Order: sequence, then structure tokens, then C-alpha cells
Amino acid sequence: MQNADFRVPGPVLVLAPSGRDATVIGRLLGEVGLNAAPCVDLAALVQRLDEPDVGAALVAQEALSRDTPLLRRWIAEQPPWSDFPFILLTFRDHTARVDPHHPTRLAATLGNVTVLERPLHPVSLVSAVGAALRARHRQRETAALLAERDRHAAALRASEAKFRAIVDGMPQPIWSADAGGRPEFFNARWLEVTGTTPSVRKLQSQASAEPFVWDHLLHPDDFDRTVDEWRAAVRSGVPFRSEFRLHTTDGTWRWFTGRALPVHDDLSGEIVRWFGSCTDIDNAVRAREALTRSTEELERLVSERTASLQREMLEREKAEAALAQAQKMEAVGQLTGGVAHDFNNLLTAVLGSLQMIGKRADDPQIRRFADNARRAAERGARLTQQLLAFSRRQRLTPEPVDLHRLVAEIGDLLTRAVGATVTLKTQLAEVLPPAFVDPTQLELVLLNLAINARDAMQDGGALTITGFALPSVPLELAEDLAAGSYVAIAVIDTGSGMTPEVQERAFEPFFTTKEQGKGTGLGLSQVYGFVRQSGGAVKLRSAPGQGTTVTLYLPRAEAAPPADSDEESDPPTPIRHASILVVDDDDDVRDLVVAMLEELGYRVTAAENGSIALDLLSRNSPFDLLLADVAMPGLSGVDVVHAAREIGGAPRVLYATGYADLGAYRPGLEGEDMIRKPYRMADLAARVDRALRAPPRRRETDGGTVERPPTAAGAQ
Ligand SMILES: Nc1ncnc2c1ncn2[C@@H]1O[C@H](COP(=O)(O)OP(=O)(O)OP(=O)(O)O)[C@@H](O)[C@H]1O
Ligand SMILES: [Mg+2]
Repeated sequence: MQNADFRVPGPVLVLAPSGRDATVIGRLLGEVGLNAAPCVDLAALVQRLDEPDVGAALVAQEALSRDTPLLRRWIAEQPPWSDFPFILLTFRDHTARVDPHHPTRLAATLGNVTVLERPLHPVSLVSAVGAALRARHRQRETAALLAERDRHAAALRASEAKFRAIVDGMPQPIWSADAGGRPEFFNARWLEVTGTTPSVRKLQSQASAEPFVWDHLLHPDDFDRTVDEWRAAVRSGVPFRSEFRLHTTDGTWRWFTGRALPVHDDLSGEIVRWFGSCTDIDNAVRAREALTRSTEELERLVSERTASLQREMLEREKAEAALAQAQKMEAVGQLTGGVAHDFNNLLTAVLGSLQMIGKRADDPQIRRFADNARRAAERGARLTQQLLAFSRRQRLTPEPVDLHRLVAEIGDLLTRAVGATVTLKTQLAEVLPPAFVDPTQLELVLLNLAINARDAMQDGGALTITGFALPSVPLELAEDLAAGSYVAIAVIDTGSGMTPEVQERAFEPFFTTKEQGKGTGLGLSQVYGFVRQSGGAVKLRSAPGQGTTVTLYLPRAEAAPPADSDEESDPPTPIRHASILVVDDDDDVRDLVVAMLEELGYRVTAAENGSIALDLLSRNSPFDLLLADVAMPGLSGVDVVHAAREIGGAPRVLYATGYADLGAYRPGLEGEDMIRKPYRMADLAARVDRALRAPPRRRETDGGTVERPPTAAGAQ
């Protein structure tokens, strides 16, 4: 008999003490290739049951009559997978020899038992043993599987512990979330960094439906963006990456980079969870911010520097242009100065000669030609005077000048000069140090500027004169002025203004934009020459339609203005209603003098030449004073005075003369009272007053020597 199912041919224990049972069993099993292992008693059997390859046990009923507790204990203590198979050999007629209940009890004791009655049938025996061995084999397989499972479980536990140890040991907060983005797990570092905030505790205690339970930790400014980015990642399954600030245990906000990767199911490819981490990038962000700030700062500095370089270049260009302009003015000044000086001398000779010709020629036509020539020469002489002023070669007598007083004195004159449509305002600083200049020339300069302003304000406007002190030289004038203190006086109009081209040339002699015959272009040249000769500077500020400001910077006087000029500025109470005849061929000068004298309260009559003057003298009651220009075409001032004295019409005479060298007239002027042109209003007032207070001169009897009565006691 063969049985191929016996895969574990381990020994089959046999305990059959009576007769030849054991031998028979051994032989029968041996025949089917099984190994029967006879045991001497029950103790020996129990001992062998622990052997690993023992597959089953054949036990005779009579062998269990005593000593069963050992076996019972072994059966009870089997491992859970084991139910050892026993085959119990009984007697058919067991009542005859043993307790009738014995086999049943025994079966219960043995648990997994098959009962075979003796005499044994070989097929039953082999079949029962085979079944027992197969059962035992399956039990061992189960045991092996269980052991395998236990090993796996242990390995899993070990691996989980390792993972936990690694994750908790990470310096970064680590977390995982389910497929829907709901957090499931946070490592120890997470709690260390963020503290056990309510949201984290909530997460730990209950499964939250909120996909972003740590949102309480997010900075309010980063909240919406970060939550949106996380939701988008969960929806689309692309890796999550975001930068945000988290509230940390030390109570501060710190920047983190959050990253999360989806984990996919091997088979379905579905996302099963997310693994995420947060990396503290606070220092990097702060450094980046600092870098941005310093880059911005650098850019700002660079652009500032560029701008200041541009400014410097512009300044330099301006300075170079100013220098070129100054050099041009200097060159023109030297040229005109030289020419004017020579012309002055020439004209003096020409005028003298013409005077002589006029006197000696009998032919009235020749006298007329000579007069015309002299008139032209005189005009030339005046121009020469202006040129001399421009070239800074005029004779100046600077003195400390109180600008308040000077401006007040010419106030009315200026008002007349600018006309009714222009309002005149003076705004001098209350405390103004005296300037060191020639006051007469300064008055002329201001008059000149006022006339320019009037011409620029055809439709009316305002003319303002301001004055202020300059304790030191401002930077923009450093080129023009020596170190020291200055007084500035500015003439400001609201007129048409000048284009840059006109401004650039305005000081040039003979530069004018006025129509032919209206302007000589010498006004500003004279201003320029006077101010420069006085050690000051003049500046123009103007733009088309924006008006013009001409500022004169005058050197400051060390001493106070002379005390007597106080009295001078207080014009002597004019001799009321005194009548004055003014004779001057120059319309401008005549008008000006008439205006000044009327201003002073006199009754004034004007004559434009000698014959008209004589005519007036002969027809009217005597004038209190005759103010006569010396050099006039036709009858000269001297001629007029002589003739007037003869008819007793000129009890008092004051000559006005514009020329230093009067040449031909000199003999006739010996001992006469004279005022030099140009003169200041105050000078004129004083000289006229003095002349009027002198006693009247009696009629000349023989045209010989002039008898001058002593000055009256009351006269100044
Ligand atoms: N206040 C001003 N407003 C506008 N332009 C002016 C002013 N002052 C001077 N100018 C311009 O400068 C030019 C030169 O002035 P400047 O006083 O030297 O000569 P002028 O006034 O033309 O002639 P002159 O003064 O000899 O009669 C003027 O023709 C005018 O174009
Ligand atoms: Mg002018």
C-alpha cells in the first residue's frame, strides 16, 4: 500500500503495550512508507509530542488507564494553531475488561481523536493515520502563516517607529493630509514651532472637515492667497508651493515656504494623501527685503548723483556763458571807452570852433549852418557821455547814500516818468545800510530803468522798487562781486519781459529793440557801466510775458551818509511863487527840469532857445531866476544872460552845464553861479533856493564888469 499524500513523513508515535499490537502497527505503517515510533509508556509519548515533525499518535485504550494528567496538560497547553491528532485503539468488547465509559472520556480528553476498534483492519488504520498526518500538516502550515504574519506586523511596527523617529527628528514642521486636503498628521517639530494652538488641538482631537485647519496660524495678509493656492493644488493635484507667515510660539510672525507633494495609489493612480513640509525662510526673506531696500537705496543714490551731476554741468555751462558774456562786455567796454574818450576831446574842439564860427560869421546862412553843426555835435557829446559811462570812465564821486532818502526824493519824478497807467510802489527794507555810490548817477540809473519799464508796460502795470541788505556775497554772484557787504535795489515791472536773446544783449551799447529814432540802446549800458564802475553788479531776470526785474548790487558804505544831506533831503521851504525861466534846447532835459522845479513849488516858464527866452524876458515882468543852459544853438546861455541883464530882466542867474571843458564859453562864465548836469533833484533844489535868496543884481550899466552884491544874510 502506497500513500503519496504523506508530505510530512514524520514519526507516528505508537503506544500499545498489550500483545503484538505495536509490532503489527509498525509493520502495517512501514508497508506504506510511514515511520512508526513505539513509546514504552505514556510519559515517553508525552515527551516526544514536542518533537517538531511528529505527525500523529496511536494510543491504545489500556495505556491511558493511569497517569493521564501529564497528557491532559500537554493537550491544554498547545499553541492556538495546534490541535494534535490522536488515534485511539479500543476493544470491541471493552466492558469485559475496563470501565464502560472509559473510551468516551478518553476521547474527550484527547480532543482531536479518531477511534479504531480492535482487531485492527489494515485499511482503516492506514486511512486514519493518513488523515491525521494531513490534518497535522495543515496545522503546521497555518502556524507558519501566522508566524509570517506576526513577523510582518513586527516589521511594520519597527518601520513605523523608524519613520516617526525620522519625521520627529526633522528640523522642519512636517504634515500630511488626506486626498481632500484635510490634515491628518503633524510632526513634533510642528508643535514646537507653532505651539499647541486651539486649531492644532482641534485637529488632534477630532477629524476636521475644514481643509486648512491651521489657517488660524496664517498671517491675515497671507491668508486668502495661501488658502487659495492650497485649494487649487488639492483640486488639480499639482505639487503645492507657497510662501506665508506663521504665528510662532515666541509670539512673532515668521516666513515659511510650504511645500506638499501628492502620493498616488500604485494601481488606480488616484491621490491618496499629501505630504507637506514648512521650511523657515524668515532670515532669507528679511535678507531679501533688506537687499531690495538697499538696491532701491542704491538706485536712489545713483539717480540723485546723476541729477546733481547734471545740475553741476548746467551750472558750469551757465557760468561759462556768464564768463563769455562778461568778457564780451569788457571788450566792448574797452573799445567804446577808447573811442568815446577820443570823441569827447574831438567834440570839445569841434563845439568850441563852431561857437567861434557862429560868433564871427556875418553871413546869417553860415551862422545857421554852424548852429546846425553845433546841435549835432552836442548830441554827439551826450552820446559820448553815455558811452563813457558804459566803459566805466565817467567821473564819479561816490559817497555814502541813504537809499530810502534817495528813492523818496525822486519818487515824484519816477511817477511822472512812468505815467498815469503805471502804479509805483516802493518796498525798501526798513533797515537798509547806506550804499557807497555817486548819488546823481544812481538817480539817473533808476530813472533810466523806470523809463525802460514804462516802455515795456504800454497797457499799464506796476513798477516796484525794493531794497534789501546783503551781509555777504551770495553764491550766484561770487563771480561778479568781491567779498563784502552789499545793498541791493531792484526795479521790478509787470511788463512784456524779454526773450533770452534780448536779455543776453540788453547791456550792449546801441542794442535796442525799439524802432529807429526811439531808443539809442545806451540806457542799460549806462546802468551796467555805472554799477560796475562803482564796484557792484547788475542782474536781469525776465521772461516774455512775465515782467522784468533789474537788480543792482551796490557796495555798502562804511560810514553813515553825511549829516548835512539830511537838511539837503529836506528841501528848503521854497520861496513861494518865485518865478523861474528855464531855457534849454534839449527837450528831455528841459521837460525834466520844469517838472522838478514845479515839483518844488515854483512857477516855471520854459523856453527852447535863446531868442524865445529873450522874447519872454522882454515881454514879462522880470523872472526871479533865469536858469540857462550854457551851450545852445543860436544864442548861447551866456548870450541870453548878457542880453537879459541889459534889459534888467535877469536879476538872478543860474547856469546849467553838461561839459567839463566849456572851452569857448569859459571867459563869459567867470564868477557865475553854475550847476553841473546831470544833477540830482536835491542839488537842483538847493542851488535854486540859494540863487533865489541872493539879492537881485542891478541892471548892467555899461556891459562891463559884473557887480555882485554880497550874499544876503538869510541865504544858505
Ligand atoms: N524793463 C524792460 N522790459 C522789457 N524789455 C526791456 C526792459 N528794459 C530794457 N529792455 C530791452 O532792452 C533793450 C535795451 O534797453 P536800453 O535801455 O539799453 O535801450 P533802449 O531802452 O532801447 O534805448 P534807450 O534807453 O537808449 O532810450 C530795450 O530795447 C528793450 O528791448
Ligand atoms: Mg532805455
